[in-house]
Amino acid sequence: MPKFYITTPLYYVNSVPHIGHSYTNIACDTLARYKRLMGYEVLFATGTDEHGQKIKDAAQAKGMEPKEFVDTIAPVFMGLWKKLGIGYTDFIRTTEPRHEKVVKEILEMLYKNGDLYEGEYSGWYCTPCENFWIEAQLIDGNCPDCRRKVEHIKEKNFFFRLSKYQSWLINYIESHDDFILPAMRRNEMLGFLKNPLNDLCISRPKSRLAWGIEIPFSKGHVTYVWFDALLNYISVCGYGSDMARFNKYWPADIHVIGKDILRMHAVNWPIMLHAAGLGLPKTIFAHGWWKIGGDKMSKSKGNVVNPIEMVDKFGVDAYRYFLLKEVSFGMDGSFSEDALIARINSDLANDLGNLLHRTLSMVEKYFAGIVPERRDLKHSDEITKALIDKSGLLGSEIKKGMDSTDFCYCLDSILDVIKIANKFVEQKAPWKLSKENKQDELKDMMYDLCDVLRMVSIALMPFMPDTSVKIAGQLGLENIEKRNFNDLKWGLLKPGTKINKGTPLFPRIETS
Ligand code: ME8
Ligand code: MG
Repeated sequence: MPKFYITTPLYYVNSVPHIGHSYTNIACDTLARYKRLMGYEVLFATGTDEHGQKIKDAAQAKGMEPKEFVDTIAPVFMGLWKKLGIGYTDFIRTTEPRHEKVVKEILEMLYKNGDLYEGEYSGWYCTPCENFWIEAQLIDGNCPDCRRKVEHIKEKNFFFRLSKYQSWLINYIESHDDFILPAMRRNEMLGFLKNPLNDLCISRPKSRLAWGIEIPFSKGHVTYVWFDALLNYISVCGYGSDMARFNKYWPADIHVIGKDILRMHAVNWPIMLHAAGLGLPKTIFAHGWWKIGGDKMSKSKGNVVNPIEMVDKFGVDAYRYFLLKEVSFGMDGSFSEDALIARINSDLANDLGNLLHRTLSMVEKYFAGIVPERRDLKHSDEITKALIDKSGLLGSEIKKGMDSTDFCYCLDSILDVIKIANKFVEQKAPWKLSKENKQDELKDMMYDLCDVLRMVSIALMPFMPDTSVKIAGQLGLENIEKRNFNDLKWGLLKPGTKINKGTPLFPRIETS
């Protein structure tokens, strides 16, 4: 079996997850489900980032010890993923011993290699970003990333020789087109690398911050949270504990992240791996930001929307559909409940829900709820042929979209088929065929509509897993769990199948 290893970022546990976090995990879950359907053995890893100043501050604000605090938040993430149908295979917390062991091993290795060295640091530090800056990088005296206040510090620390590997990295990025995606992000990183790279400070003195993984060769320091967190991608798949599993899955096929953390993933991480003699992930995909009114949705801005609230109001699948369909993966999007409702009403209620409900109603009315047998395909007119041809392309269209991480492309191709099928109903007017007693044509038509819906339900599996099962159930299909993309061809529906009409899946949402 071919393997597919996909990761999400490890989210900070300084507060509970918002829509942005759910977006990355829904995208990864969709890719993972698709790969499973294509016969891959999938390792899908997510987890939580639990060390560092931010977490320590958040714990303190609650009057708790850091470990006690993080133990209350990690389960909140797990609970949300369950609610959203995120089928991860592995969950890793950076406070787990299996991970701490790997961080210490890699630190020792790099120290012995001479890639880590001791030095004196004097400069500016942004606590929320956990980042060092030199005077010239500050904007109006503030952090150039988050624009908040920075503090001046002077201390002994350990540094990682990023600079030594700069030209190697540039060369690697230039010779691997798929390493950083989308292409605009790749260009952005190549632009950034035109300036000399500073070595990376990878320690924090315990006197300032004790909540981290101790540096094995300096008892007075803990590891910088980013150096610690990135290594999760190798510890979660067995590095240092199950090397057979590690060798099977590493290098990762894709790290999906938001564009906010691209530099850590596309510059620091590959250099860390290379210095440790390990292979590089095939792709780092940085998606865009969900914004609220023009601002990035973020914990620190306090403008977050709780995904649980959206799911309770609109359902998991409508929520998943909205996030994947509303913006092209890689671009920024603007979140609002109005946009979500508009999307549900147009695509899910008017198009998909309507097609399903009217088809089932007609099968019930004209054929007592039994899928009729169709004549040979040579009896088909042009409209019918167009519908059958278009639905027959679903498998290859979705493959094309998924291979380029383009969820919109996939969903558009499904929606196209649905729209053509609805038009097919209007043009052929089955109610007239019934009146004129054109039974053969009516049978052909009902069979075709049901079979197209069968294919649509399969095509939706990675995107809207519950809906896919519900449609299959309403069509009366058997062995629903065995379906896969090989079944995306016309004519596999058994005549004589008894449908279960049920209630409309996506009723229109009325707004006042
Ligand atoms: O950065 N729109 O964790 P984090 C889209 N612990 N995606 C968003 C988003 C938004 N408005 N806000 C957050 C960290 N995200 C580190 C990562 S990895 C080894 C360590 C998503 O809790 C997006 O995936 O700040 C982004 O990259 C991530 O959450 C940042 O989560
Ligand atoms: Mg963040």
